Amino acid sequence: MMADPEALCHEAIKARAFSYAPYSHFSVGAALLSGDGTVYRGCNIENAAYTPTNCAERTAFFKAVSEGCRSFSAIAIAGGPFGSEPVEFCAPCGVCRQVMMEFCDPETFIIYLVRCDAAGSCEIRTYTLSQLLPESFGAADLAR
Ligand code: THU
Repeated sequence: MMADPEALCHEAIKARAFSYAPYSHFSVGAALLSGDGTVYRGCNIENAAYTPTNCAERTAFFKAVSEGCRSFSAIAIAGGPFGSEPVEFCAPCGVCRQVMMEFCDPETFIIYLVRCDAAGSCEIRTYTLSQLLPESFGAADLAR
């Protein structure tokens, strides 16, 4: 179980270690908390052809969904230039927000952004998915 934001953010920071980002040199880690308390880590995975690049958040979601998990309560994200602390907040890209929309309730799914200074002191910002993806489009719209 990994309910507290600090612990989930720490998982996201650790997930950066496996980032494959030889083109941007920008490493991102994500830690996705499932409904049963399992944490799925993800990192960004770049590609020489650029467009096949997968963000850390989608790596975490696709790992989870491909293992049969479709219930999620929160995700923590940490990103910044490779080799240094994530000193600035790294918000999820639009594509990743839309993937979150597919599997999460936008009113209750929580997104934590974390940044840390060189001394290791961290700050967390907390959002709901609906705050980061207002006026969204999702499966419910197709069902109407
Ligand atoms: N990236 C992520 O993995 N997540 C984000 O929230 C923002 C961007 C990655 C994609 C690419 O590998 C690198 O960061 C630079 O855009």
